[in-house]
Amino acid sequence: MVESSKLMGNMKTSTLEEKIKPSSSPTIPSLVKPNTPLGQLNLDWSEKDLPEKLRTKHVHRLHPYLGKFIPQLVEVFLRKFFSKGQTVIDPFCGSGTALVQANELGINSIGYDVSAFNVLLSKVKTQIYDFEQVTTEINQILDEMYLYKDGTLFEHSKTDDHEALRDNKYLKEWFAPKALNDLLLFLKLIPKYKNKNLLKIILSRSARSARMTAHHELDFPKKPQTEEYYCRKHSRMCRPTDNAFKFISRYCMDTVKRIKEFSEVQNGATVKVLNSDSRFAKVPLFHGVVTSPPYVGLIDESSPFLVEISGMTVTLPLQLYRYSGYVS
Ligand SMILES: C[S@@+](CC[C@H](N)C(=O)[O-])C[C@H]1O[C@@H](n2cnc3c(N)ncnc32)[C@H](O)[C@@H]1O
Repeated sequence: MVESSKLMGNMKTSTLEEKIKPSSSPTIPSLVKPNTPLGQLNLDWSEKDLPEKLRTKHVHRLHPYLGKFIPQLVEVFLRKFFSKGQTVIDPFCGSGTALVQANELGINSIGYDVSAFNVLLSKVKTQIYDFEQVTTEINQILDEMYLYKDGTLFEHSKTDDHEALRDNKYLKEWFAPKALNDLLLFLKLIPKYKNKNLLKIILSRSARSARMTAHHELDFPKKPQTEEYYCRKHSRMCRPTDNAFKFISRYCMDTVKRIKEFSEVQNGATVKVLNSDSRFAKVPLFHGVVTSPPYVGLIDESSPFLVEISGMTVTLPLQLYRYSGYVS
């Protein structure tokens, strides 16, 4: 959804543009220009035109997020209606897709979201990193995890702040003991590092993967899967996972790779992400809006999955997709 005074100007020409037939071949986002007629756009991309690898390029796959924009769709509208140095706002920025794409094109962006987790994710995606520091820290935290993951720190950490979490009913139900131990160990180590927010996103992504769920139910798990089961995703028998370390180490490496890829296309624009209700936000001057509003009623909000960890709301399982209920 795009709206701007510039767009309103373009709207006047829409009757003319509507007469232009959509191109028979799918639009290539990078070729869209401000003077590309709207009617000529063919956004009916097939998997072949726009494979998953491109839709989830660089930071877009830093963390799963149900219901996000296809980045290339945002790119088309940003190229058509904005130019470098202008400002776009997204009043429901979610996982930050519009902000990331604007950043690629040198367009300044401001995002709002009522969900603290979504704001954290959007910030982590669009931040500029000291890449050497990130790599060193990721290697260090993995080394520490490796040293302690099989128990020593587990004993030690019985007296730490996270003791209460070990007895958390939800965590005990959805995570195998060793997986929970791995996650709490990672959580315990985070405060030692500078790139805390990035590590929190890795923790949340790992927690999502390490739940005892059937692979085919990862998005909407109904109940903990404690026994071996027939997996509809892999068409074979699968076992629920009992460890989180393999996900933590895999996502640590994947995160480093993705933020490096994005750093190569970031284009000097500013990004602001605010944890507020956009209905009441004091919005500065901007050139246009690109947004996708909340999917009211489509997401189950009844799952009591919010877990407070160390003052930070770590969004686990369904809570990842729990929308606020605040609707404009
Ligand atoms: C459909 S999602 C946006 C997804 C986003 N386009 C993306 O690509 O990730 C809608 C978002 O609106 C947020 N939201 C709902 N009501 C809001 C409000 N009044 N102010 C700010 N954000 C709100 C929700 O928390 C949710 O993240």
